[in-house]
Amino acid sequence: MDTRPIGVFDSGVGGLTVVKQVMKVMPHEHIVYFGDTARVPYGTKSKDAVTKYSLQNVRFLQSKDVKAIIVACNTASSNSLEAMRAATDIPIFGVVVPGVEAAVRATQNQKVGVIGTAATVRSGAYESMIRQKNPDIAVYSKACPLFVPLAEEGWTDNDISRLTAQQYLNELLSKDIDTLVLGCTHYPLLKRCIGTTVGERVKLVDPAKATARQVRDFLAQQNQLNENETEGERRFYL
Ligand code: DGL
Repeated sequence: MDTRPIGVFDSGVGGLTVVKQVMKVMPHEHIVYFGDTARVPYGTKSKDAVTKYSLQNVRFLQSKDVKAIIVACNTASSNSLEAMRAATDIPIFGVVVPGVEAAVRATQNQKVGVIGTAATVRSGAYESMIRQKNPDIAVYSKACPLFVPLAEEGWTDNDISRLTAQQYLNELLSKDIDTLVLGCTHYPLLKRCIGTTVGERVKLVDPAKATARQVRDFLAQQNQLNENETEGERRFYL
């Protein structure tokens, strides 16, 4: 057993959607969260900048003696995961692979939409990994940068967010997708608005739950779960 906390980071509040799932799946784990609100958004920045910030965030969490790090940011997961893994011995988990697996499981008509930040879409990570798993799946990606400030502002389901969603998503809907990956951890905060826009026929995939399960299975395998019966302590740094 290992009672050290799990570290989680994002550019801002979006990663809290992942923390929520971690708390559900591993209620006894201590969590240290870091939201880089001074430098949000990451999605409009270069790969080099995202990697530099990500490495700094890893160092910050490392200073809190964490036993594992969840990169609760698709932008950092799709651009900087290898650099982070090379910089530390602490196991690092991204959100893209669990999202890819969930999307491949969910689609029936083999047409998947992926929405994310400009940097995530530019990386092509979702597209190439989905195609690796199943070359028959057509992937349609769309950057939706305005969703991040809307989520940070708390404008998750008002006229402005609804119009923004229509503007971004109509093009994807014309491709007849039956699955839409919320490829940015801020987007589940707008889930209701996005869901209303795409309609019930399109399944929304939030990689957070699958990520939390992956981390739990890993820690269990390593005998590193916190087996205390008490609720975990959560600390938030912004
Ligand atoms: N929430 C992050 C993501 O999943 C970053 C959003 C941003 O800062 O642009 O990509």
